[in-house]
Amino acid sequence: MSRTNQGKWAPSRRCTLIITGTMLMGGPLLAAADAVEEAGADDARLEPLMVQGQEVYNQACVFCHQPNGMGLSGSFPPLVGGAPFDADLSITQPLERLGLYKEGLVQLGELETHINVVVNGIPGTRMFAFGPQLSSEQIAAVVTYIRNAWSNDTGDVATPEQVEFFRKD
Ligand code: HEC
Repeated sequence: MSRTNQGKWAPSRRCTLIITGTMLMGGPLLAAADAVEEAGADDARLEPLMVQGQEVYNQACVFCHQPNGMGLSGSFPPLVGGAPFDADLSITQPLERLGLYKEGLVQLGELETHINVVVNGIPGTRMFAFGPQLSSEQIAAVVTYIRNAWSNDTGDVATPEQVEFFRKD
């Protein structure tokens, strides 16, 4: 581009749009960096999944499990590994059977267990199945989020293919 043309294109609408776009991207990208730092993991796949996963979490899970993942004593279990949880046996026993609860403390268990719980729920409890209302991408993101947010630094990444495996057809 020649210097003499500069006056014509510099203040163009296209330039403004690019700059605005870059500024808008700043928010989610910074949030992603925080999330990954929080997770203590360096897997590049984590970054976008943590951003998307937190969005899904805030829409679908936060009401019961709370923003800090600590749930509500007596009703909704924490999602934070090692966190204490007091509730009736009717709530804790199904968790114990899944390997997600032991001696009063929440266990992170296996990645596959979390995927299954989110897709199919825990029958007979208030943890209902999210399979029908969330896409496989959304479930993969939210499971990745809960396994790396707060002090859960598993480094696990869930994929939509793994989610499909647990969908009943
Ligand atoms: C209506 C309240 C409610 C909502 C919304 C909800 N859960 Fe749960 N969740 C529960 C309850 C209650 C349990 C324990 C069920 C039992 O009694 O075994 C549970 C258990 C779990 C567990 C296994 C136990 C643990 O502490 O790790 C996971 C994982 C989980 N929920 C993830 C999620 C995710 C992810 C979402 C959002 C997609 C979500 N939940 C939305 C109520 C809820």
